[in-house]
Amino acid sequence: MKLDPNRTDLIHLRGGGTSLVVQTPAGGPPEVIAWTADLGHLSPRALRGLSTAVEAPLVGNSPDERVHPGLILLSSTGWMGRPGLVGHRTAGPSSWAPRLHTDSVELTTDDAEPDGPTTTGRTVTAGPGAIHYQLSDPASGIHVGVDLQLLPEGLIRARASLTNTAEDVYDLEELSLALPLPVRAAEILDFSGHWGREREPQRLPVRLGVHLHEGRHGRTGFDAPMMMYCGEPGFGFEDGEVFGFHVAHSGNHRTWVERCNNGLQVIGGGELLLPGEVRLAAGQTYTSPWIHAQRADGLDAAARRLHRWERSLPSHPGGPRPVTLNVWEAVHFDHDLPGLLELADLAASVGVERYVLDDGWFLGRRDDRAGLGDWEEDPQVWPEGLHPLVDRVQGLGMQFGLWVEPEMINVDSELARAHPEWILRAGPDLPVEWRHQQVLNLTIPAAWEHVRSRLDALITRYGIAYFKWDHNRDLVDAGDPALDGRPVVGEQTRACYALMDRLRTDHPGFEIESCSSGGGRIDLEMIRHTQRFWLSDCIDPHERQAIMRWTEQLVAPEYMGTHIASQRSQTTGRMSDLSFRAASALWGHMGFELDLRVLDDAELAQLREWVQFYKDHRELLLTGDLVRRDVADGSMWLHGIVAADRSRALYELTTRRRSPMSPRGLVTIPGLDADREYRIAPLLVGGGPAGLELPPWGETGVVMTGGSLARIGVHTPAMFPDQVLLLEVTEAGAPTTSPGDDAEH
Ligand code: GLA
Repeated sequence: MKLDPNRTDLIHLRGGGTSLVVQTPAGGPPEVIAWTADLGHLSPRALRGLSTAVEAPLVGNSPDERVHPGLILLSSTGWMGRPGLVGHRTAGPSSWAPRLHTDSVELTTDDAEPDGPTTTGRTVTAGPGAIHYQLSDPASGIHVGVDLQLLPEGLIRARASLTNTAEDVYDLEELSLALPLPVRAAEILDFSGHWGREREPQRLPVRLGVHLHEGRHGRTGFDAPMMMYCGEPGFGFEDGEVFGFHVAHSGNHRTWVERCNNGLQVIGGGELLLPGEVRLAAGQTYTSPWIHAQRADGLDAAARRLHRWERSLPSHPGGPRPVTLNVWEAVHFDHDLPGLLELADLAASVGVERYVLDDGWFLGRRDDRAGLGDWEEDPQVWPEGLHPLVDRVQGLGMQFGLWVEPEMINVDSELARAHPEWILRAGPDLPVEWRHQQVLNLTIPAAWEHVRSRLDALITRYGIAYFKWDHNRDLVDAGDPALDGRPVVGEQTRACYALMDRLRTDHPGFEIESCSSGGGRIDLEMIRHTQRFWLSDCIDPHERQAIMRWTEQLVAPEYMGTHIASQRSQTTGRMSDLSFRAASALWGHMGFELDLRVLDDAELAQLREWVQFYKDHRELLLTGDLVRRDVADGSMWLHGIVAADRSRALYELTTRRRSPMSPRGLVTIPGLDADREYRIAPLLVGGGPAGLELPPWGETGVVMTGGSLARIGVHTPAMFPDQVLLLEVTEAGAPTTSPGDDAEH
């Protein structure tokens, strides 16, 4: 539906419990004036009233017109904070201060209702939908397109593109998008972290000024903000209004919250462009990554909304996730066929469904100093190719997966010797090495095609079902020597997406896991090209529980690779019980990273039991709704998945540490239907957790309503630290005895 930009100035989109009211002020870019819980149907008069109510007074010593912070923040509108569009020309008009006018507005929705004219213009009310704006500034020689969507799940997606319509080159430095926040959103939650400890939450108050979180790693980063949340102080899993913002991009990015001294507050973000990275010749266009934004009451509701969207993606893995064994921590670079075959036999015997051969199989790859780029089997280690292993794995009924790192190159490789000019560098010298490796320039079509054809041949030759696709270094000084060292981080990132897509198109059903030294490349663009994320190289279940707790704030459990680790963690040295390791690995795409050859029969039998439990419950675990709570003084965590129809749920109660209290009081069990009756009982898979002292309800289970479980809960058991108690909740059948008879226990 085309709308007249001169006459239609208010659009109210509603969907997924969210209302979005967008205004097109005369002479400025579109502006969101309300982003809130669903407001219900608003008459033209009430919508117009809303738009008037949010206008600020004109106060002394400020612009003589009201400031409208648009989706693209521009100083020409009186906005004095961080701009969203930065660029200029060195020849011709400098064009650094654009004034964008809306030329056209197009609304795409199944459900629109033009509300008719009011005295000042027309309003439109619609369901979920997309608005496409065309804006231009002839004097600056730029044309801007903005796509703004409200998805049925209540998520906002937006992106912008900029075309140079003049003759001289336009040097684009930034094209970001922003949304307004109410000043009651006064607390920020975002994430940081490092290798082996990704997604460490950090909270801070909103102050006047900017909280800016940049990622300059050329990958998403261990320390990426993920979703940057800003909300009512004290917001938690269960409640508190939160507004989240995410830049869906796996290269450089920035996200920020800014509060200005005129009472305006925004949350924004976009791709972080390096100097000279985007220089648009006449007619050329740059398109920004999508940004995703969401408003919710509590972090659990926010996460569930994202999970629903992810489950609607065409690239979503669907179906039961195959239990996976990855051999990395069992063998590292020590590829010895008899040992790998023994691992395959043991894997099949405990119920593994996918076997992954990790790093170390290709030419010259005896350690991490050589070989990247040479994607052929090393004949010294694999004289018959991978066939003997692949045949055994597939003969045992398992899929075969392989580790690759397609964007990387070692200087000590055949590829680097043949094509030194294919290595990214900004000047005459190579960038600093990182894990002894450099970055292969996939923006060169011949290099891209070389890697594609090698990977394609491997998939075809061995019937490979899955790549663990690694990316083990930051992009430092990532320029193209053929372009005088111009930075190409964004183009390199998009070349990687294209390579992944091409392999998946050419091999239907083929899956990719995004790994980047662990969890360094997890974002909402990568999720559209891959089916799994490796969350961290740290598999110590104590650490891993924390990493999972916050990763699933962004991605649904079925995307999270969750492996059962070795008894002594290879990253922390901590020892942990098998039951803690196994129970922690249930809540995602389960697998193994430990050396099965060192386990005794009793331990293998326990693992078999855990795998069977996972297979019996994965349909619920990977399709249900997430709930999380801090219990008592935070020394315990509750985490659960509730079936969409609320008929059953599984929870884990984890002891994070000892507490000054013993026992620790009640734990509420949220997420169920208040009026239905449920039986809650502990599940002692593999013998149950160490040090368990069950309260009376735990002996046989107990029937309670969902409302009682959520508001009162059950008494916590006692357990040693670093233990998990699983709780099963099933809808109770009709009582078989008369009311008041406690035999129903
Ligand atoms: C990275 C990954 C690990 C493993 C190694 C192999 O560090 O995160 O899981 O695959 O590379 O070199």
